[in-house]
Amino acid sequence: MERLVAAVLAAGVLQVLLATADDHYLLSRIAFGSCANQSAPQPIWDAINKFDPQVFIWLGDNIYGDIRRPFIFLGKERTIGPWQNAPRFIPSSSSEMLSRYNSAKNVPGYLRLRAKAKVVGTWDDHDYGLNDAGKEFSAKSTNQRLLLDFLDEPQDSPRRKQAGVYTSYTFGPPGKQVKIILLDTRYHRDPLSSDGSVLGDSQWSWLGKELRGPPSAITIIGSSIQVISNLSGTTGPLFYMESWGRFPKERDRLFKLINDSKRDGVFFISGDVHFGEITRYDCAAGYPLYDITSSGLTQAVEKVLPSPLRFIVRFLAWFTPSTMRVKNQNCRYRSCTYGEPNFGAIQINWDASPVNLKIQVRDINGLPVTGVDISLSELQAWNRTIKAGQDQRHCTLEVKLPWIVRYRLAILVYSVLALLLLALVGLICAVTLACRVCLKKCKTD
Ligand SMILES: *[C@@H]1O[C@H](CO)[C@@H](O)[C@H](O)[C@H]1NC(C)=O
Ligand SMILES: *[C@@H]1O[C@H](CO)[C@@H](O)[C@H](O)[C@H]1NC(C)=O
Ligand SMILES: *[C@@H]1O[C@H](CO)[C@@H](O)[C@H](O)[C@H]1NC(C)=O
Ligand SMILES: *[C@@H]1O[C@H](CO)[C@@H](O)[C@H](O)[C@H]1NC(C)=O
Repeated sequence: MERLVAAVLAAGVLQVLLATADDHYLLSRIAFGSCANQSAPQPIWDAINKFDPQVFIWLGDNIYGDIRRPFIFLGKERTIGPWQNAPRFIPSSSSEMLSRYNSAKNVPGYLRLRAKAKVVGTWDDHDYGLNDAGKEFSAKSTNQRLLLDFLDEPQDSPRRKQAGVYTSYTFGPPGKQVKIILLDTRYHRDPLSSDGSVLGDSQWSWLGKELRGPPSAITIIGSSIQVISNLSGTTGPLFYMESWGRFPKERDRLFKLINDSKRDGVFFISGDVHFGEITRYDCAAGYPLYDITSSGLTQAVEKVLPSPLRFIVRFLAWFTPSTMRVKNQNCRYRSCTYGEPNFGAIQINWDASPVNLKIQVRDINGLPVTGVDISLSELQAWNRTIKAGQDQRHCTLEVKLPWIVRYRLAILVYSVLALLLLALVGLICAVTLACRVCLKKCKTD
C-alpha cells in the first residue's frame, strides 16, 4: 500500500516536473493547418515534419465527418437550385465519425509528427459534424468527445466538462511566453445572417479573462473561420463564405476586447477557405492585427478545375478585390493567395532585438507561397500609431469599396453569362432563319 502511494506520488512529481519543463520550453517553431480529408493521401506531412515544429495547431476540418451528396438538379430529392428540397450535407453516425478520426490519426506522416511535436487544436464545421452548422446541431456534445479523444486530451481535463472545445496554452519562460488561444466558433454560434453570437456568453467571458490575464510576449488566437478577411463582401451576391465578417457586431466586440485589454503581440491564425493568404486590419487596435490563413492540408480551391484550367482560379483570385490582403515580394502568385495544399509556419527569433516573427504559408514542398516578417515591436500599441497613407489600405472595409470595384467579380461573371446567353439566342435565331430559308427554297423548288 505504502509502496503504491510512493509510486503514485513519484508519478505525480514527475508529471509536475514534466509539465513545468514543458511550460518553460522556449517555443520558436509552430506549424498549423486545416481541412484534411482523412480518405485522401496527405503528403504534406513530410514538409511539416521537415519544418520540425515544436507545436502543431489544428484549425478545424481536421476530418470530413459529414456526408456530402452530389448536386442533384432534378428528381425527388434535389440538393441544389432554388427548388432544392433536400440537404446537400448530412451528419454521419458517431461510429462513422470515430472510424474517420481513426483513419486521420493513423496517417503515417501525422503519426511521425505526433511522436515529436505537441499537437493541439480546435474544430470547424465538418469535424463538428455538419457543413456550416452552429449551436443548433444536436450531435455536438458527442462529437466534442470524439475531437478531444483525437487530440489525446487527458480524461480529467476541464475541456471535457465544458460546453465547447475552446482552450488556451502558455509556453516558454517568463518574458518569452507564447500564449495560444483556441476558439470554438461552432458550439455556441447563432445562425448565419442573424448577426447573432459567434462565441456565446460563457466563451466570451472566458476569452476576456484570457486576454486581460497575465501578459505574454506573443498571443496567437486560433479561429477556424477567418477573422480579418471578409471575402463575402466582394464575392456576394455570387456566393458567401463563413467568416467573422458575417457577424459584424461580434467581430467589433472581438476587436474592442483586444484593444481594451491593452494586450500587445496579438495576431490571428485561421483556416476553412481552401486557400492560403495573409491579411491585416490596421484600425481595430493600436497596432495592425494580422490574420494568417492556411487552408487546406489536402483541400484546395484549385482542385475544383482540371490542371490546364487552374489559371482561371488564379485569375479570379487576383481579380476579386481585397482591402486587407498583404501583398509583397514574398508571394508566389500575383493574387497573393495560394489555392493548392498548404500549411502555416511560424518562426520566432528570440535572439533578435527586437524579437522577430517570420510567418509563412508554405506549399507541399515546404516552400513559402506568401509570408510576412514582423518585428514584435510593430505589434505594440504604445509606440505604433496608425499612419495614414501606406496603412490606409488595410483600414477600408470591403463593403465600403465603391460599388464598381466591390462587385467587379459579379459584374464580370454576369457579363460573361449574358454574352453566352446572347450568343446562344443569336445562334438559335440564325439556325431557325437558315431552316426557314431552306424550307422556302425547297417549296419553291
Ligand atoms: C476525400 O477523399 C476521397 C478519396 O479521394 C474522396 O472520395 C472524397 O470525396 C473526399 N472528400 C472530400 C470532402 O473532399
Ligand atoms: C461582410 O460582408 C457581408 C456580405 O456583404 C456583409 O453583410 C457584412 O456586413 C460584412 N462585414 C463587415 C465587417 O464589413
Ligand atoms: C483603442 O483604445 C484606445 C484607448 O486605449 C482608444 O483611444 C482607441 O480609440 C481604441 N481604438 C479603436 C479602434 O477602438
Ligand atoms: C517601437 O519601439 C521600438 C523600441 O523603442 C523601436 O525599435 C521600434 O522601431 C518602434 N516601432 C515603431 C513602428 O515605431
